[in-house]
Amino acid sequence: VTTDPIPPTIEWRRGRVRLVDQRRLPGRLCFVECASVGELRDAIVTLAVRGAPALGAAGAFGVALAASTLSTPRAVASAAARLRAARPTAVNLAWGVDRALAAYRAAGPESAEGAAAALAEAHAIAAADVSANRALGAHGAALLPDGARVLTHCNAGALACVGYGTALGVVRAAAEAGKHPHVWVGETRPVLQGARLTAWELGRLGIAHTLVADTVVASLMADGEVDAVVVGADRIAANGDVANKIGTYQLAVLARHHKVPFYVAAPWSTVDPATPRGAAIVIEARPASEVTTIAGTRVAPAGVAVRNPAFDVTPAGLVTAIVTDRGVARRPYPRSLSSRSLSGLGRKSTPQVEKRPNAGGG
Ligand code: MRU
Repeated sequence: VTTDPIPPTIEWRRGRVRLVDQRRLPGRLCFVECASVGELRDAIVTLAVRGAPALGAAGAFGVALAASTLSTPRAVASAAARLRAARPTAVNLAWGVDRALAAYRAAGPESAEGAAAALAEAHAIAAADVSANRALGAHGAALLPDGARVLTHCNAGALACVGYGTALGVVRAAAEAGKHPHVWVGETRPVLQGARLTAWELGRLGIAHTLVADTVVASLMADGEVDAVVVGADRIAANGDVANKIGTYQLAVLARHHKVPFYVAAPWSTVDPATPRGAAIVIEARPASEVTTIAGTRVAPAGVAVRNPAFDVTPAGLVTAIVTDRGVARRPYPRSLSSRSLSGLGRKSTPQVEKRPNAGGG
């Protein structure tokens, strides 16, 4: 029995992958069931399911789907490669695909055990996501003062994960701790994940929030109305550079100027030690129609040139702290992140979990 007002974003149901259809929110809460890898890939590309941790679980369940519907290991491998390439920036997608594929191969891909192992791995990834988010939420909540006015961007809530949320997990944990946070929800043009999804989630959770146009943030900060920025991440490079929804970088610049702490909240699966710095991260280019139309109505001249990158990179120097399920990492990130990498492998354990807000904005 779950009392969570937000249903699981992704579930395995009777041999299919069932997703909350985020294209339909906030108008309708409905689900899409993917019976083939092609359908799941389409759901990923069209943002029925989105957000880095949710993509990790989707990729893993996608491999389970491939293993149970395709007849040869070669076909499964090629389906996995198609899923992996569906969205390039969020490292979790490739990570989830690779983990489930490794489990499938280790169990013997020609046998029924291969499909069962891929599915078991996907379930494990999904369960671990929710507990990681609860853990990082508690670490992050400790950084926020009572009554914090928190600005967030895009949707890094339960909908972007299997459950609970990362940036919104921090807010949620603060609310559960009786800290009464208030959230400034940036609308997040062009796809409006803030207006459509974050506002919907916070409404369901009963957490105080106010929707603002992206363009309002500078004056909000200048007026002293933002105590912290908390955002999610699609990929965190080894040096602490952070790829996240387009527009995140400008918030970090504004936060530094106004001495507002800028926190990134993400599960450890979003940290990518194989990517040395932000410049090495592939930024997904999205269709022009996302910019030239709003809710299906054209708002720009036909044929106008459009550039629509889905993400940007915030340099590590602008990030006050990276809040993970392995504790709160601070600069210098190459050291604080790699010490946590090693601790995860059971080789070394030196994370220092900070409990006090750093009001220094950097
Ligand atoms: O294009 P999207 O909606 O998948 O982008 C999502 C984001 O940028 C999120 O902030 C990020 O994935 C973190 S979600 C916990």
